[in-house]
Amino acid sequence: MRIILIATLISLAFANERRDDDFFSNFEEVTSPPPESLGAVPKCGEEEQKDKFMCVPYFNCDPSSNTIVDNPIVDGSNTIRPRTRPFECDHYLQICCRIPNGTTLPLELVPTINLDFQLECGIKKSETVNSSENSHEANFGEFPWMVAILNSSKETDSILICGGSLISPVVVLTAAHCVRDLKPQEIKIRAGEWNIQTINEKISHQEKEVSKIIVHKYHLRSTLYNDIALLILNSSLSKVENIGSICLPSSREDYDPTDCFVTGWGNVHGQEYFSNILKKIPLSLVSNNDCQNALRTKLGNEFILDHSFICAEGESGADACSGDGGGPLICSDSSNRNRFYQVGIVSWGVGCEEDLIPGVYTNVTEFKNWIEVKLRELGYNSTTFTP
Ligand SMILES: *[C@@H]1O[C@H](CO)[C@@H](O)[C@H](O)[C@H]1NC(C)=O
Ligand SMILES: *[C@@H]1O[C@H](CO)[C@@H](O)[C@H](O)[C@H]1NC(C)=O
Ligand SMILES: *[C@@H]1O[C@H](CO)[C@@H](O)[C@H](O)[C@H]1NC(C)=O
Ligand SMILES: *[C@@H]1O[C@H](CO)[C@@H](O)[C@H](O)[C@H]1NC(C)=O
Ligand SMILES: *[C@@H]1O[C@H](CO)[C@@H](O)[C@H](O)[C@H]1NC(C)=O
Ligand SMILES: *[C@@H]1O[C@H](CO)[C@@H](O)[C@H](O)[C@H]1NC(C)=O
Repeated sequence: MRIILIATLISLAFANERRDDDFFSNFEEVTSPPPESLGAVPKCGEEEQKDKFMCVPYFNCDPSSNTIVDNPIVDGSNTIRPRTRPFECDHYLQICCRIPNGTTLPLELVPTINLDFQLECGIKKSETVNSSENSHEANFGEFPWMVAILNSSKETDSILICGGSLISPVVVLTAAHCVRDLKPQEIKIRAGEWNIQTINEKISHQEKEVSKIIVHKYHLRSTLYNDIALLILNSSLSKVENIGSICLPSSREDYDPTDCFVTGWGNVHGQEYFSNILKKIPLSLVSNNDCQNALRTKLGNEFILDHSFICAEGESGADACSGDGGGPLICSDSSNRNRFYQVGIVSWGVGCEEDLIPGVYTNVTEFKNWIEVKLRELGYNSTTFTP
């Protein structure tokens, strides 16, 4: 606090010096400082400040010590004071801030969670406008945690790579196989999407860039064991009614295994095109033993289903399909039909809608702890996905 105060006093002193020049003091209010001051203050992170200071978003600078914090406090105590240190950073929402001792550069800064974001997880929106007669099509905004992971290339027009789900306004849960070979800048995510071919929805979607991809360390490419990954967005999604987060279960008791859905834009009925409107397919969970037996009819009697997987199947053999990868398998809360938990992540299957062969999903409950540890390392807690 003292540093800011001193800086404020200094800038006040500057202002006082020019009190006689009305134009100049007004000028200083709204734009960058007059050029004569530039020589006095080194640019942030250069010369004697090298490796000691850097420009960071204002919320990452603790005002009392003027030191970078990567787990920012967002109670308003560190609101931006653009005029206090006007010389050193190019962007007015950044502050020249001390790099903590013993920190290895470059620093990873994570976005703050937008506190306006709807914090109640897993509430399926009951929609007043029915999308169509087709019961496999979701209604607009019905699954507010559903996101599309898209190719960020400017040349291609938003090609769908995989599905994912929001567990907070800055974190997407998806499958490792979707993103394991990609760099953050190669993808972007779109939240609040419904019909991927139109932008005329009631509330428009929000797109975010990805700043970090966290793939499970023991994900196995050949067998898809531990098929789980997190995407950290480069800034927080904002609150609108078609965007929200899904809850994560702590145990088998949390959800009803007979009332589940998988959602995605994957291809319909084995056809070669992606569905435009988000699909929802009702499913029930299948025990791992039954699932393993069913898979053995195709994969041979030696096949063993790893415990990192969980299985589900639809009544009419409806199943997730290619393009649905990474998307959520959700089941209703056993004590509240309106709330959903994400129980699985679409991982793999034997063909699409093959008769009586269940689809295979990452067992999310098994990785709840992994998710919490990874997020804690970044300074996020589990409030956004806990009912
Ligand atoms: C960081 O290092 C500087 C210079 O080496 C020293 O003056 C300062 O006390 C150190 N701060 C902490 C918190 O250790
Ligand atoms: C939506 O569909 C349900 C069931 O099919 C029906 O009861 C309801 O009236 C429909 N709502 C609208 C706004 O059309
Ligand atoms: C995105 O599209 C570009 C251009 O078509 C292509 O070169 C690139 O491989 C795609 N990236 C991914 C991750 O699919
Ligand atoms: C997000 O990434 C874009 C492009 O890399 C960058 O221009 C923008 O400043 C980033 N936003 C934040 C909040 O870091
Ligand atoms: C999924 O993981 C949870 C937690 O480890 C475990 O209790 C449960 O039995 C697993 N489910 C299946 C179907 O293996
Ligand atoms: C979790 O983090 C949010 C801000 O990111 C904060 O408001 C909330 O108090 C935290 N909850 C717990 C239990 O620490």
